[in-house]
Amino acid sequence: MKRILSISVLLLFSSMVFLSAESITDSQKNQLVFLFEEEKLARDVYTAMGEKWNLRVFENISRAEINHMEQVKDLAYDYGLSLTELPPGDFNNQDLQDLYNSLIEKGTKSLKDALEVGRLVEETDISDIDKLLADNPDENMLFVLNNLRRGSENHLRAFNRQLDFYN
Ligand SMILES: [Fe+2]
Repeated sequence: MKRILSISVLLLFSSMVFLSAESITDSQKNQLVFLFEEEKLARDVYTAMGEKWNLRVFENISRAEINHMEQVKDLAYDYGLSLTELPPGDFNNQDLQDLYNSLIEKGTKSLKDALEVGRLVEETDISDIDKLLADNPDENMLFVLNNLRRGSENHLRAFNRQLDFYN
């Protein structure tokens, strides 16, 4: 009995995996690959800004971005996608590479610029997550996207609070 039960649980589980792998479109796959590198961009930019300006907000948020990368990586894995993670500051996507380079250039000018970079990264993140949310994600993806969006909103508030000191 126990054996039959465990076999049926196994079958149920494998059909769930199969279903989730089927339930993602090619466009959603590409968006997930992009999203992973976008979260990596946030981590890499904040790590560099933390080293340059020694401000806790960058260190704290860069740690949260590591968690976001893990969430996207796990989600991608559920859909049978494997993501390649390049070294810090390197990106497969040329647009993200160009964005990273320009953000680092701006963010090293002054602390205010660095905080504005933070704001820009989070605003970009939120608008890209919204595009994915509008693309009919399944429940699995919806859960992760909402998590990431909440995180980005918190980070945006944290950067805006710091920027308020300059107004
Ligand atoms: Fe994030």
